[in-house]
Amino acid sequence: MAQIFDVVVIGAGPAGYVAAIRAAQLGLSTACIDQWKTPQGQYALGGTCLNVGCIPSKALLESSENYERVLHKFKVHGITATGVKLDLQRMLARKNAIVSKMTAGIEGLFKKNKITWLRGRGSFVSGGTTWKLEVAGDKGSEAIEARNVIIATGSKARALPGIEVDNRVICDNEGALAFEAVPERLGVIGAGVIGLELGSVWRRLGAKVKILEALPSFLGASDESIAKEAWKIFTAEQGLEIELGVKLGTVKKSRKGVLIEYVADDNSTKTLEVDRLIVSVGRVPNTDGLGAEAVGLRLDERGFIDVDKNCRASLPRVFAVGDVVRGPMLAHKGEEEGVMVAEIIAGQHGHVNYDAIPWVMYTAPEIAWVGKTEQELRAAGVAYRMGRFPFAYNGRALGRDEPEGFIKMLADEKTDRVLGVHALGGQASELIAEAVVAMEFGASSEDIARICHAHPSMSEVMREAALAVDKRSLNG
Ligand code: FAD
Ligand code: NAI
Repeated sequence: MAQIFDVVVIGAGPAGYVAAIRAAQLGLSTACIDQWKTPQGQYALGGTCLNVGCIPSKALLESSENYERVLHKFKVHGITATGVKLDLQRMLARKNAIVSKMTAGIEGLFKKNKITWLRGRGSFVSGGTTWKLEVAGDKGSEAIEARNVIIATGSKARALPGIEVDNRVICDNEGALAFEAVPERLGVIGAGVIGLELGSVWRRLGAKVKILEALPSFLGASDESIAKEAWKIFTAEQGLEIELGVKLGTVKKSRKGVLIEYVADDNSTKTLEVDRLIVSVGRVPNTDGLGAEAVGLRLDERGFIDVDKNCRASLPRVFAVGDVVRGPMLAHKGEEEGVMVAEIIAGQHGHVNYDAIPWVMYTAPEIAWVGKTEQELRAAGVAYRMGRFPFAYNGRALGRDEPEGFIKMLADEKTDRVLGVHALGGQASELIAEAVVAMEFGASSEDIARICHAHPSMSEVMREAALAVDKRSLNG
C-alpha cells in the first residue's frame, strides 16, 4: 500500500524546503519530492536558488568585486598590487563548493527533521480523501498519498521565440554562471536583475558588456531617483553599456559567436556581434509534468497556479507557494509563504505581509528597497514627506571608500508612518533590514530618528534619512 503523509511538498527550492521543515517541526509527517539534478547527474535539494540562482550568483559577485577592488580600488588605500592574475577555474570551483555545501546542508536539515526526500518528478494522479501522487525517479515510479499537498515547483528562465539557449554560447542563468573563460564581448538581453548582476560579474572580470533592454526606462520597478543615480554609476562610471528601448530582430549564431540584429530607440537598425549572449528576460512558472490537468488544478491566465492570499489553490488541501504563484519571484517571499502554509495546515494562523518584502540587487553599489516608491505614492494620491541622506557625508562610508548613493525615506504626511525606504549604496542589502523591521512594526520616521545608531556605521545614514523627513538631519 502507498505510504500516506500528512504533507507532501513538490519542489525543494527555498519555498518548498522551508515549508517541509516547518511542517515537520509542527509534528506533521512530511515528504518532499524534487527532480533537480546536478551537472554530475546527482539529485540535489535547494532548487534554482541554491543551485543556479541566489547563492552561486552572490559567490561570483563577491569574487569579481574583489578582483575589481584589487585591480582598481586598492590604490586609493595606498596599496599597490602587481602581477594580479585571474584564476577563473578556481573562482568557479569556490562557487561550486559553496553550492554543494549549502545543498548538502538542506539534506542534513531534512534528516534532522525526519523529512522523507523523494527523488524524481512529482505529479498528481487523482484526488479523494487523500491526494494520490506519483514520483518518477531514476529507479522507476513510486506511488504515495498525501492528506495535504504544497506545490513549490518554482520557475524557469523565459525563452524568447527564435533564440535557442544552448547554455554554451547563448545562455540563461545556468550557463551564465559557468562560462569556462571570460568572454571578450558579452551581450545581455534584458536589463533586469539578472542582466545587471551577471553583467556586472563578467564586466569586472574583463568582458566588454552590452545590455539590450526593450523598455524605454531603466529599472522601472525601483524608485525613480534610485534608478537615475544607478544608471549614472553603472554606465558612465563603471562602463556597463546599456541600450534602452530596443526591439530585437534576428539572433543568430555566427562563426565567432552570436549576431544580434535590433531596432534601436531612434528606429535605426543595428547589429551587435558578441562572443557569448545571456538571455535574461524574466522567468515563467514551472508547472510542466505536474499533472495539474489530471486533477483540475486551476492556473491563472499567465500560467501561475491560482491561489488566494493564504496560498490556497483551487483544490481542497492543496496549496502553492514561491515562484509558481503570483507576487515577486524572490526566495525570501517563497520562504515566508512556505512557513505560512505549513502553519495553516497545522491549524495555526499563518500570515505573510506582502507590503514588507524587501528587494535587493547585489550590484555595486547595492540597491535595496521595501514598501512604496515615490512614483507609486504620487500615482495613488498619497500625501507623503521625503527625507534623503547621502553616504558621502558618512564617516564609515568614506572609510570603506563607498561614498556613492543615498538612503531615501518616505513617510505619510499626516501620521508619519514609514511607507517606503530606498537605498543605493554599500551594504544596502543589510541596511534595508532595519526599514523592514520598522515597517513590520508600523513605525514612524520619528521612531527611527530616535533610535541610537552605532557610530561610525553605515546605519547612521538610515537615521539621518529619517531625520531628513522632518528636515532636521544633523550631519548634512
Ligand atoms: P525554485 O527554487 O525554482 O525550486 C523549485 C524546485 O522544484 C526545483 O528544485 C525543481 O527541480 C523542482 N520541481 C519542479 N517541478 C517539479 C516536479 N514536478 N517534481 C519534482 N520537483 C519539481 N531571489 C532572491 O531572493 N535573492 C537573490 O539574490 C536571487 N538571485 C537570483 C539569481 C538568479 C541567477 C536567479 C535565476 C534567481 C535568483 N533569485 C533570487 C530568485 C530565486 O532563485 C527564486 O525566487 C527562488 O528560487 C524561488 O524558489 P521556489 O522554491 O519557489 O522555486
Ligand atoms: P527581470 O524581470 O528582472 O528583468 C527582465 C528584463 O528583460 C526586463 O527589464 C524586461 O523589460 C526585459 N525584456 C523582456 N523582454 C525583452 C526583450 N524581448 N528584449 C529586451 N529586453 C526584454 O528578469 P530577470 O533578470 O530574468 O530575473 C528573473 C527574476 O529572478 C527577477 O525578476 C527576480 O525576481 C529574480 N532574481 C532576483 C535577484 C535578486 O533578488 N537579487 C537576482 C536575480 C534574479
